[in-house]
Amino acid sequence: MDTYDGFWDRIARKYAAQPVDDVPSWEKTLDHIRRYLTVESHVLEIGGGTGSSALKLAGDAKDILSSDLSYEMVAIAEEKRAAANEERVRFLQGVAGDPQLRRDGGYDAVIALNLLHLLPDPPQSYRAVREMLKPGAVFLSKSACLKEMNIFVRMAIPLMKLVGKAPKYVQFFTGAELEQQLRDSGFEIVESCRYPTGGTTHFIVARRPN
Ligand SMILES: C[S@@+](CC[C@H](N)C(=O)[O-])C[C@H]1O[C@@H](n2cnc3c(N)ncnc32)[C@H](O)[C@@H]1O
Repeated sequence: MDTYDGFWDRIARKYAAQPVDDVPSWEKTLDHIRRYLTVESHVLEIGGGTGSSALKLAGDAKDILSSDLSYEMVAIAEEKRAAANEERVRFLQGVAGDPQLRRDGGYDAVIALNLLHLLPDPPQSYRAVREMLKPGAVFLSKSACLKEMNIFVRMAIPLMKLVGKAPKYVQFFTGAELEQQLRDSGFEIVESCRYPTGGTTHFIVARRPN
């Protein structure tokens, strides 16, 4: 992505130092993801950040390739992997949909947590993800649906961009619009819910049809 402004690399160390802001929601999301994995699953994560989720899920799949646009995020993830001596997870720099992330035979699951609203061209990435999945396999995503947030949050984002406190690409969609974009990109919606309940963050399971 030649127009990347380096935002995520600049903030990576600070991001890594921050505690997860809602641990129960995160644990619930991971448990929900586990329902779709088996110890035979080949898993790709996109926008995996510093690898916290991939490392937590390591024992629930055969292997996990966790990728991220930011070299610095990947470097931190790799430090954590080495410290944990975890061999079932690999970390690789790559944008969502990057052909280098493909796996011969396809993946059983692709995971995207807190990413979809940050993609420059979401439908293009969804179509690429679809092609990387085996027929019948699932795309598991948790996304901030910014269009459902209050007006103050929505107005703050362009201002934050101006002062370098928000990334270049921020997409505004509702949960219903996100589901429709996934359908338009060739997925079937299997389920959709919110963590925390009633919030604006949607957990969506979409399947590549057989
Ligand atoms: C909000 S963080 C979420 C990280 C992690 N998934 C989590 O839940 O903690 C968004 C991550 O997406 C990455 N990212 C942003 N745009 C991306 C893109 N087009 N392709 C892949 N990763 C991207 C950023 O570098 C950052 O690590």
